[in-house]
Amino acid sequence: MAEPLRIALAGLGTVGAGVIRLVEANAALIARRAGRPLQITAVSARDRNKDRGVDLSPYAWVDDMVILGERDDVDVVVELVGGSDGPALALARTTFEAGKSLVTANKAMIAHHGLELAAKAEAAKVGLKFEAAVAGGIPVIKGLREGAAANEIERVYGILNGTCNFILSTMEDTGRDFADVLAEAQAKGFAEADPAFDIEGTDAAHKLSILAAISFGAQVDFASVETAGITRLRAADIAQADALGFVIRLIGMADTEAHGSTHHLFQRVQPHLVPFDHPLAHVDGATNAVVAEGNFSGRLLFQGAGAGDGPTASAVVADLIDLARGEIGAPFSVPVAELEAMPRAETGHRLGRSYLRFMVADRPGVLAEITAALRDAGVSIESLIQKGRAGDAGAVMVSMVTHEGPERAVAEAIRLLDGSESLTEPPLVLHLLGD
Ligand code: HSE
Repeated sequence: MAEPLRIALAGLGTVGAGVIRLVEANAALIARRAGRPLQITAVSARDRNKDRGVDLSPYAWVDDMVILGERDDVDVVVELVGGSDGPALALARTTFEAGKSLVTANKAMIAHHGLELAAKAEAAKVGLKFEAAVAGGIPVIKGLREGAAANEIERVYGILNGTCNFILSTMEDTGRDFADVLAEAQAKGFAEADPAFDIEGTDAAHKLSILAAISFGAQVDFASVETAGITRLRAADIAQADALGFVIRLIGMADTEAHGSTHHLFQRVQPHLVPFDHPLAHVDGATNAVVAEGNFSGRLLFQGAGAGDGPTASAVVADLIDLARGEIGAPFSVPVAELEAMPRAETGHRLGRSYLRFMVADRPGVLAEITAALRDAGVSIESLIQKGRAGDAGAVMVSMVTHEGPERAVAEAIRLLDGSESLTEPPLVLHLLGD
């Protein structure tokens, strides 16, 4: 058999240990499929003495992970350190300078520095692969770069954060509070080190910006993702949505609009109301799901575990097998120089239905004030629920779903209500997931 692909592992957390276990457990079948064995030669992490449940004695221990790629016994570096900058980024740069390939699960680094790193990888004629960075074990990067490569992708959207999905679907099933369920998600180990990245939508935005680049041939543009998390949602919103025929899911969505010969890029992460009969309404727990709409393939649905040691290791090792086979390719599907710089799309003219939730003082005329603002802005109400007097220092909850209309009309209605003494907190506006 051919020479092994020699691998250095940087970062030995749950995913790193999972990679070691997978490479050992499936060594024979991986070697057959890759055409040569995968051999881990060197490892590095912050703490040498921590018990990780795997035997590290066969591998050289390297204290300074940044120089892993410079070793003569290393062909490819696997970066599982995390963080958009710091040691992970330094390691990526030195790895390409040394002319070696990099596999990473680091969505933050790819979202922020993906173009620079892809350019460096292309210049060095080595690989940069990040299947594990988006939706854990789901082969969605491969699905888009390879399986759907012949299609124009018209829209890509999905459930990209397992922590939020776990929290929302558990709140839905049990009626439990947000904070209580977040603590459970952290204990289960799929929340980010800083859970704000999950619940504020940042993690999903990292992943969406990567998917959008690959789907549309766009330059990665994390900064232009319109991002909102799930922290403002109440159990009562979930109950109201249920009464109206929806579940609430944090959805990342991207598409493009043609303006002459250029395109504008729309990228949004926000909780959406998802109709019961939509496939994404049945994605529960920490599962991720991505829908890509190709102009010839039609709707493709990728679903599976978005985090965890086994699924994430599966994605990392799939990338290693590609490299062992000599498959490098442009990291974002087309060479960096050909990725289009797309301005951020305006959203005011986008058509859709919205869920509006108001916390209001319980006194005569309040509902009339709200409906007058909606009337003046040209927003038509499809259904409305007012919950009786409850909690919140006498505030009551009024929620409604609008008929289809331009987003700017809803924004105008909210603007008209700005400063109203009838509202006890700013309104919550969520979009409905359309077909
Ligand atoms: N914190 C992430 C999630 C892990 O909850 O989906 C995988 O990126």
